[in-house]
Amino acid sequence: MGVQIAPSILSADFARLADEVVAVGNDADWVHVDVMDNHFVPNLTLGRPVVEAIIKNSSLPVDCHLMIEDPDRWAIGYAEAGASSVTFHVEAAHAPVRLARTLRAAGARAGMALKPATAVEPYADLLPELDMLLLMTVEPGFGGQQFLEVVVPKIRRARELVRDGQHRVWVQVDGGVDEDTITQCAEAGADVFVAGSSVYGGDDPAAAVRRLRAAAEQASEHAWWAVSR
Ligand code: DX5
Ligand code: ZN
Repeated sequence: MGVQIAPSILSADFARLADEVVAVGNDADWVHVDVMDNHFVPNLTLGRPVVEAIIKNSSLPVDCHLMIEDPDRWAIGYAEAGASSVTFHVEAAHAPVRLARTLRAAGARAGMALKPATAVEPYADLLPELDMLLLMTVEPGFGGQQFLEVVVPKIRRARELVRDGQHRVWVQVDGGVDEDTITQCAEAGADVFVAGSSVYGGDDPAAAVRRLRAAAEQASEHAWWAVSR
């Protein structure tokens, strides 16, 4: 499995969420849903009831990104609701290994997210417990922010750690991903790409997904890390 494109509905029309997912249904791999609690991040979005409604109405797997305090308590609900992957922030988790195991036991992929200033190396030993590492390429909380190039070397280091390990771990990037920045991310080692405003900000979200995929596939084809994949 190569490149995965996950449009973020944070930039979609919230009054027409089901239609907005359908709009990318034939071209995207996952739909990315951002849960924000106004505590871990300053913004407030949606919670489990809305995620459940999206899951029921979506043909795509739902990739749930929790930007909330106390994921140790709340994350399980999103796995039980049927999210394909549930990603918690390591900065908020009290017991990340226990939490990741709980999510997997509930049938979800376990993802762990790192804010731009959080180093990946301290978590190298946790990788076998995880299915996905999410490297934020903006400060979490809002769509439409500028991509932080300072994170690119961390994408590369994360890919090195994943490559050295025995387990398949997705390396996901989220924030400011567009047709230009996706190339740097893919070259550095990302294989899952979240895109909000660059997909839903234009007139044709499906075409935007196709362009992102083409750019990511082209960049990762000959990338240093793809050779021994
Ligand atoms: C930001 C969210 C992102 C957001 C990305 O905290 O986690 O998923 O939707 O939006 P863009 O792609 O516009 O930066
Ligand atoms: Zn997100």
